[in-house]
Amino acid sequence: MASHILAIDQGTTSSRAIVFDADGHAVASAQKDLTQHFPADGWVEHDATDIWMDTLAVCRRAIADSGVTAGDIAAIGITNQRETAILWDRASGAPVHRAIVWQDRRTAPLCRDLRTGGHEPLIRRKTGLLIDPYFSATKVAWMLDHVDGLRTRAEAGEICFGTVDSWLLWNLTGGAVHATDATNAARTLLFDIRTHRWDDDLLALFTIPRAVLPEVRDNAADFGTTVPDLLGAPIPVAGMAGDQHAAVVGQCCFDAGMIKSTYGTGAFALLTIGETFVESRNRLLTTIAYRLDGRTVYAMEGSIFVAGAAVQWLRDGLGLIATAAESEALAGQVPDSGGCYLVPAFTGLGAPYWDPDARGALVGLTRDTGRAHVARATLEAQGYQTRDLMEAMTADSGTAPVSLRVDGGLVANDMACQFLADVLDIQVERPAVIETTALGAAYLAGFQVGVFQGLDDLSHRWSRDRMFTPDMPADRRERLYAGWAAAVRRVMTGDR
Ligand code: G3P
Repeated sequence: MASHILAIDQGTTSSRAIVFDADGHAVASAQKDLTQHFPADGWVEHDATDIWMDTLAVCRRAIADSGVTAGDIAAIGITNQRETAILWDRASGAPVHRAIVWQDRRTAPLCRDLRTGGHEPLIRRKTGLLIDPYFSATKVAWMLDHVDGLRTRAEAGEICFGTVDSWLLWNLTGGAVHATDATNAARTLLFDIRTHRWDDDLLALFTIPRAVLPEVRDNAADFGTTVPDLLGAPIPVAGMAGDQHAAVVGQCCFDAGMIKSTYGTGAFALLTIGETFVESRNRLLTTIAYRLDGRTVYAMEGSIFVAGAAVQWLRDGLGLIATAAESEALAGQVPDSGGCYLVPAFTGLGAPYWDPDARGALVGLTRDTGRAHVARATLEAQGYQTRDLMEAMTADSGTAPVSLRVDGGLVANDMACQFLADVLDIQVERPAVIETTALGAAYLAGFQVGVFQGLDDLSHRWSRDRMFTPDMPADRRERLYAGWAAAVRRVMTGDR
């Protein structure tokens, strides 16, 4: 009987496929960097055809390297960069514009108008989100308004909208299925996360025709079957979730009060809050953690737009390091950042500031500041940004967290994890598998086809690689954090 699961993790900067066995161990993986397009200041685009072709290539390679055949793969789980918006022709399957990426800020003026028009309270009540270019709706509206004749075609039902999950599913199933899952739908600004419906008021507000929308399913569901020729056998797609929601599942943060933070291109902390929708009073988002068998569990989310991307900037922008891994050794050459702070607001600031026009800054420079201080400030920025989120979560929930489960490429860095524990003053737990996003997608698909048995089964599988315990005097911690707060104030535009 087929017992392996293929997880697709289509991220902002790379596409990855991992084959997992029935014990949840990765047996093969393949990865390809995704070409980024920056056509104007604050604009970020991906070629949707690249997204699909790269994904197909890594799936084929992972299967070929896994020692099993496509026929041994019981199901596929898809997880993806969220919010990124794609529109394509329903008849030909051809994209009508490049994908507008979640980091893209081009719709900031439209968002400002909607905010000053007083629409935010309604949006927060229905979607748990707030008005920011980050989410899909204004990106879709922008394409409908800027591609010749597109709005008319969309109204006539000739155009499909999807986040990356829907786009991959459409292609994997040869155009047979136009669907998404509840967590990805929750990031569009068009989906009421309490009623689980695409919302007419929101569609009208963002001027988006209902005809473009995909059908919304649970995270573990029947999403159709791949075209046989693509991967060597017809394989059911049985799990789908936005990457941060898949990480919640991979980290087994099923109970209220548990928090995970994933450090990829950006960093996203999700606090599981249970089955009742609660609106944040501190500029966090409310989102669907997961929806299984029609049962919804919600989370509070703090979204940081630049985390691993700042280390990438050290490497590619400044040329300070040759590989991301070198950042730890370089930062380790100095005991502290020497009063230097990097505010990595390269694409604006996310939670809890929500300032799309803010830009990055390196502050506190002196004649003594060297490469190592800048590297250290870059890693420390991840700790400070996470602390901003934890402060908001504590204010919302009334309870300070006691531990944080971390994952994503950046947490291989011990120094970053220790600083996180120090500046948060809580225990930071690093799991044995730090590619938790893909694991979560595999769990969801495996859950649907009976390879994994349910949430308890999954919880028993979680294991820790290392616990980082806080080890910084309180006065130093608070002094450092006050310096960060002052640095952030210097980049804010005061738009909100
Ligand atoms: O909301 C954006 C997020 O889903 C992107 O994740 O892993 O590509 O940084 P990542």
